[in-house]
Amino acid sequence: MKATAVAPANIAFIKYWGKKDEALRLPLNASISMNLSEAYTKTTVEFSKEFTSDQVEFFDAKSLDPQEILRVSKHLDRLREMKGVSLRAKVATKNTFPKSSGIASSASGFAALTVAGSVALGLSLSEKELSILARIGSGSACRSVPDGFVEWKTGDTSEESYAYSLYPSSYWDLCDVLVIVASSEKKISSTKGHEAVQASLFFHSRLMSLSERIERVKEGLKKRDLGILGPAIEKEAINMHAVMMTQTPALFYWTSATMDSIHAVIRWREEGLQVYFTIDAGPNIHLICEAKDAKVVAQKAETIHGVEQVIINKPARGAHLV
Ligand code: PMV
Repeated sequence: MKATAVAPANIAFIKYWGKKDEALRLPLNASISMNLSEAYTKTTVEFSKEFTSDQVEFFDAKSLDPQEILRVSKHLDRLREMKGVSLRAKVATKNTFPKSSGIASSASGFAALTVAGSVALGLSLSEKELSILARIGSGSACRSVPDGFVEWKTGDTSEESYAYSLYPSSYWDLCDVLVIVASSEKKISSTKGHEAVQASLFFHSRLMSLSERIERVKEGLKKRDLGILGPAIEKEAINMHAVMMTQTPALFYWTSATMDSIHAVIRWREEGLQVYFTIDAGPNIHLICEAKDAKVVAQKAETIHGVEQVIINKPARGAHLV
């Protein structure tokens, strides 16, 4: 009744921002991402009749927000219900990167929890079922279940909204040079942010313009052409953050170091380096380049004022048992 799973964080090339069903976490639009090799969560779940309540241990965290423990416990309830048991669990979890700073910590966290928890209970679930369950825990977690480059279909029902692999991790030597400019937890969670999207005047036009960017991202992936993929993902990141900044309350995730990094990327590109940026719900910036350029990009990123850490990620497989 005990299992350990590893699940990668993922970087969204096309972002999930806004839900059409809050409780089920059904997104308003499809999204596309890449799993990250060096940013992952490792989680062990053990069920036992000796435990009187669910216990959650987060390695490195001084104290855990009771809301967060409740969210984990609720997710375990979904698994318990499927198995028809009421056993309580002990969850021990560890990240290789700062939690809640926009590196999709809840994505890797809920994907790892779903896989470890279901196996510990002896449930035998398909990748699609695991992706659906992970989605209900935390939307983007569904994209951390399949391998490599992943698409999450919108879907009108829970059964229709899951992620699947577009291409395996070995498909393209793309790198995500993750530039950490703030490792502190963000003040407003993405869960809260999603709820306020409709307040942005730009949200409707975002949805209207998405299908074109989705096609460009798919074409870039298909042709393994960064010259097509890169501009589309940058445009997409700027578009999502424009919506965030014009919501009520407004969300300003970028810091001056984020902005300096954006300017630097544009400058490096003018100098001939093929690198593009994208940013999720936080100040940290992801520099997308081909593997041959990753070291140079990382070295350059380290010189930017305010940069705390730089991590080179390759495409990674999805959540799996260890
Ligand atoms: O899954 P959530 O609720 O943490 O939302 C993720 C939102 C973004 O990171 C901004 C975009 C995405 O698709 O990952």
